[in-house]
This record gives sequence, C-alpha cells and structure tokens, in this order.
Amino acid sequence: MSKSPASSAYKIVEVPEPMKAMQDRFGREGSYVGLSEEESPWVPFGDNAAIRHLAFDVRNNVYCNILWIKGPGVIGTHKHRGMVWAVGMEGSFRYLEYDWSCGPGDFITEMPGQAHTLVTDEPNGMKALFWMQGANEFYDENGEWTETLDVFWFINHYVTYCEENGIAINDQLFL
Ligand SMILES: [Fe+2]
Repeated sequence: MSKSPASSAYKIVEVPEPMKAMQDRFGREGSYVGLSEEESPWVPFGDNAAIRHLAFDVRNNVYCNILWIKGPGVIGTHKHRGMVWAVGMEGSFRYLEYDWSCGPGDFITEMPGQAHTLVTDEPNGMKALFWMQGANEFYDENGEWTETLDVFWFINHYVTYCEENGIAINDQLFL
C-alpha cells in the first residue's frame, strides 16, 4: 500500500475514461460558489441569525449552508430525520443536550432521531458549515411540532430572499 499519491506532477494528466462520451452528455460539473453576497447572500433566519446557502440536492434531500448566529442565542429544539455533518468556523456553539462545544476547526455529526437545542454563549456568536440530509422537525417549548424543514424549505428561503432583493438565482447552488 502506498502512503502518498503516485504522482506529484504539477500538470493536467489525461486519464482513461471509457464512458467519456456519456459523461460529457449526461454527467454534471461540480460547483463553485465564491465568497461574494451576489453569489449567495446572507439570508436572515430569525432576528439574530442568518444562513448562507451553498448547495441544494433535491435528489437526496441534501442541503449545505453556513449558519451564522450573530450573538448569544438559540436555534430552537429540532429533531433530525437524516444525517448532519458540520465544521465550526468562528466562535463556538453547543447543544444543551450534550457535554461538548464546537469551535473553529472542530468536526461534529448529528444522527437521525436526535432532538437537540443549539445555543451559542459567545458575545460574537458563531459560524459553522453544515452539510445536512433529510428533514429537520422543529418543536415549540412544549414539545409540540411546529414545522418541518427540508431541501425545498431551504430552497424557498434562498429563492424568496433573492427575488425580494433583486439578486439573481445562482445555478451553482443547485447540484
Ligand atoms: Fe441539529
């Protein structure tokens, strides 16, 4: 077993691909979303938070975004019906139900069936990249279901804001 890639040549290497014609016809390019708000704006999420949408995959009910909570605050209790992967970027956040805190560079997963309450105690809040699959069910303070957020909820969150603010819909977000 090698412990490193076979080549370190700084050049494009043509790789054999027997199905190249089909890939060219039916394959899809990967996406690129730059930093500017024209490419994807911060969309308000409640009074104290915003979401920057980065990817929507309607085939798999997958969506990727950056959550920004601008100061001490809470994202209410929710239950996942799919997987979540996240990497902390700025500040820190934690869940009332767990004993850890996620800071810059930390990696976490959340599992289907888990219900939890996200909080940040930081004066400057937090930012984290979330890659999410499936639905999130939100509950009120009495444990009553209020709303289910899935890929189409997140698409609506993005598209509605763009249309209201004259921002072009970025095709790169739709995988
Ligand atoms: Fe969660």
